[in-house]
Amino acid sequence: MHIDYTHTIPNNVDLEGDRTLQRALERWQPGFLGWWREMGPEGAQEFDVYLRTAVSVDQAGWAHFDYVKMPDYRWGIFLNPAEPDRRIGFGAHEGEPAWQEVPGEHRANLRRIIVTQGDTEPASVEQQRHLGLTCPSLYDLRNVFQVNVEEGRHLWAMVYLLHRYFGRDGREEADELLERRSGDVDNPRILGAFNERTPDWLAFFMFTYFTDRDGKFQLLALAESAFDPLARTTRFMLTEEGHHMYVGRNGVRRIVARTAEVMARARTDDPARARELGAIDLPTIQRYLNFHYSVTLDLFGADVSSNAATFYTTGLKGRYREPYLKDDHRLQDASYPILAVEDGRIVTREAPALNALNERLRDDFIRDTIAGVGTWNKALREQGIDYTLRVPHKAFNRKIGPLAQIRVAPDGSVLSDAEWQAGQREWLPTEEDRAFVASLMGRVVEPGRFAHWIAPPSSGINGQPVDFEYVRFG
Ligand SMILES: [Fe+2]
Ligand SMILES: [Fe+2]
Repeated sequence: MHIDYTHTIPNNVDLEGDRTLQRALERWQPGFLGWWREMGPEGAQEFDVYLRTAVSVDQAGWAHFDYVKMPDYRWGIFLNPAEPDRRIGFGAHEGEPAWQEVPGEHRANLRRIIVTQGDTEPASVEQQRHLGLTCPSLYDLRNVFQVNVEEGRHLWAMVYLLHRYFGRDGREEADELLERRSGDVDNPRILGAFNERTPDWLAFFMFTYFTDRDGKFQLLALAESAFDPLARTTRFMLTEEGHHMYVGRNGVRRIVARTAEVMARARTDDPARARELGAIDLPTIQRYLNFHYSVTLDLFGADVSSNAATFYTTGLKGRYREPYLKDDHRLQDASYPILAVEDGRIVTREAPALNALNERLRDDFIRDTIAGVGTWNKALREQGIDYTLRVPHKAFNRKIGPLAQIRVAPDGSVLSDAEWQAGQREWLPTEEDRAFVASLMGRVVEPGRFAHWIAPPSSGINGQPVDFEYVRFG
């Protein structure tokens, strides 16, 4: 399915066949570009960036790489091809044909799901807009811009659904997606983690590794939706999303590798000494990890949720790998283990599986994070460093659900308030940690050069060498 780039809005949904919709989206487009100029990467609008653009939704050869000024990026509407005779795979409507229009009774819930997903896309661009000023290399600068333009395209993906299927309400929601601002006290983004700052590159890499991965799991659950246009849209978004997590995983790995190298050369395991030598010490990396991991776990929502049950039963949102799960795909009588607090202790108890679907997706996410953390530890072993980075306990630093009522250490032990206060500096990034990391951030833009605190990648983008001129400043 080739994408038509001859139109104002590139698309593979035959936009030209629906003039009203086309005009509505063409009215939204200047607002989007205005938002991009105001809230997109700071001071970078005139750079020529070696970006990939989707030219096809086929798995093989879907992307094209070339220099583009970001405001000229061809944001558009790309859906995976329709599966002939697609059937609903779960819930009360299992086996019925997938919906090509929104059933009236599910309109409000579907709109809310689409808006919540859509809101995260521009939010992350806003969170990351200052990073270009302190890039550790041209390679990394290009990568953050690539992530940013693709998050912009994901916003287009959700706005298309709102305009096409939700009439006037949908158009209003699409406008509001351009009005909220990450971290704004009066008009913030919808979800907590998307109002946090991404102040430095360690935070950026942790964000793309952990928080973009929440996006992956939400998209995978929506890729099963009975509402076929949503399923097809999210399937294509997942193709782009893979790169974002790759950037995060390798970014952290390169930082860890440099720290390990510096420690090995100086024969030290003293974090203060590692800092003196210009590396980010391992306890600081662990604290950033603890923060981004726990904030991301909250994004999956309450452990027991009647909304989650409704979304599943009505066919709006499925489970991770739904077609491969060997059960009845209805879950009326099934149960699922969740963590609960009893007498100030964490215990496991069974909850109705339908209500525990957020928790289940959170557990799927947790399993998926392990591989990356493993590659980070491998980078330590390669230098003979005896230190292990670990994801904290699921109950650590939670702000949503019953686990928010207790204080828990990264190892899972329940703490008094006083113990939490005393331990917090050891477990979460302090102002001083953030100031130290910020002190390392400087702008490195000579092709092939890298900031001292991060190792170069092992290969470049799209077969180009590592010292390729990924960004031209004109
Ligand atoms: Fe995205
Ligand atoms: Fe992403």
